[in-house]
Amino acid sequence: MNQVASQVQADLDRLLPLLDAALTGPFRQGEAQRLGEAMRYSLEAGGKRVRPVLCLLACEAVGSPAAQALPGALALEYVHTYSLIHDDLPAMDDDDLRRGRPTNHKVFGEGHAILAGDALLTEAFGVLASADLDPTRRAEALALLAEGAGWRGMAGGQALDLEGEKVESYDLDHLRLIHRLKTGALLRASLEIGAVLGGAPPPERAALRAFGEAIGLAFQIQDDLLDATSTDADLGKRAGKDAGRGKITYPSLLGLGVPGKP
Ligand code: IPE
Ligand code: IPE
Ligand code: MG
Ligand code: MG
Ligand code: MG
Repeated sequence: MNQVASQVQADLDRLLPLLDAALTGPFRQGEAQRLGEAMRYSLEAGGKRVRPVLCLLACEAVGSPAAQALPGALALEYVHTYSLIHDDLPAMDDDDLRRGRPTNHKVFGEGHAILAGDALLTEAFGVLASADLDPTRRAEALALLAEGAGWRGMAGGQALDLEGEKVESYDLDHLRLIHRLKTGALLRASLEIGAVLGGAPPPERAALRAFGEAIGLAFQIQDDLLDATSTDADLGKRAGKDAGRGKITYPSLLGLGVPGKP
């Protein structure tokens, strides 16, 4: 393992237990047992936890303990997991495998999958709103979560992604817009929420936002590449689906090779 990879592994070993200890607890007890089970099913299936870990690392990067950003990190993973449950529905990408398991609607039915997504999104705002945080920072984090998840962010991008399935021709600027919104916006929010909850001064906050914007776009490009080049077993989700659905992706527009070379 090279130095960067072992540093990343060390960060994951340190931060993942913090997250996992808090992630599903709130949904164990309550009256709507089956809905709680559906929410836990997708959360407990794993996933790389990229967004919450980036949030915690951003908080540390501005000099505060990771635990200070934990409510933000939980909120981000709830929003992300909801977005995956809905993304897999028959009305969207119609997928049957996610995080190495049958998709939520295949196990719990479409109604419960829609509601599990709705509830996770709502809980995301709840966990942040009710956390013991500085009130100004809390309000800023909530606004950033709304920006990243809503119609200016992930939900808007998902709509453009669906509309793109029916478009005959498109250009790189439009593709970049889709990717920035559907995936980049929540990754950008992950960095910026961590910065805000860590009390970052404006220049550091802006730098982390810009970093989040850049890796957000890169992340979806890599997701497109993996769809075209990897296997179900490696991804824990169906590979090779984008072309079949007529998705606008980097490989469909630019190919897999280095531009200018065959
Ligand atoms: C998948 O996200 C959907 C995209 C936004 C590309 P991840 O690759 O982070 O999925 P998990 O959380 O690891 O399952
Ligand atoms: C999904 O993009 C982005 C989301 C907001 C969920 P994809 O549809 O490419 O994600 P996967 O490949 O199904 O994980
Ligand atoms: Mg999709
Ligand atoms: Mg999908
Ligand atoms: Mg994909």
